[in-house]
Amino acid sequence: MKFFIDTANLDQIKEAQAMGILDGVTTNPSLMAKEGITGEQNILNHYKAICDIVDGDVSAEVIATDFEGMVKEGEMLAALHPQIVVKLPMIADGVKACKYFSEKGIKTNVTLVFSAGQALLAAKAGATYVSPFLGRLDDISTDGLNLISEIRLIYDNYGFDTQILSASIRHTMHIIDCAKIGSDVMTGPLSAIKGLLKHPLTDIGLATFLADHNKGN
Ligand code: E4P
Repeated sequence: MKFFIDTANLDQIKEAQAMGILDGVTTNPSLMAKEGITGEQNILNHYKAICDIVDGDVSAEVIATDFEGMVKEGEMLAALHPQIVVKLPMIADGVKACKYFSEKGIKTNVTLVFSAGQALLAAKAGATYVSPFLGRLDDISTDGLNLISEIRLIYDNYGFDTQILSASIRHTMHIIDCAKIGSDVMTGPLSAIKGLLKHPLTDIGLATFLADHNKGN
């Protein structure tokens, strides 16, 4: 399973990259705003800065909601850097734009996916990635993991190449569960990724090994 980090924070991206496990980055307008990145040129420069840190795909979301606007914006984003993936919302014009970009060989990530039917449409339009938002479904007492399983089943039934990018990951167990289901990619916060490191028996075992070594030296 590929590991993407879901942030626009350059320090966190650098930390994840330094761990040697990072395959890409996802951003969205809210994450950019959280880092105080505003204004078209600053936003474009920030995407380029992210691409310079990570060796993998970087999702950059369009703001336009009409087909022509998405095409114009997506082409500008894709021209920024070969690692850029154009992130498009799951609306009718987003699906149309996804088909347009996939025919041009430009990578896409269809975002804000909350149902198997939406994921099926994204795959039919040739999306590189589909982003089901698992945590936001959990937030409204719906089984987010069940959606990932449904999409896996449908994509395998028909051999769709679209990669399932499990998004809105909130904690470490979400990552484990997505890996068990066979999600192709997960995107989550650094804290959820670092949670995978933790086990008390590792800490106790290491302390014992070091103490025993020091007794004989
Ligand atoms: C996906 O690409 C989104 O950026 C993200 O995963 C949304 O997560 P949230 O529900 O925690 O905002």
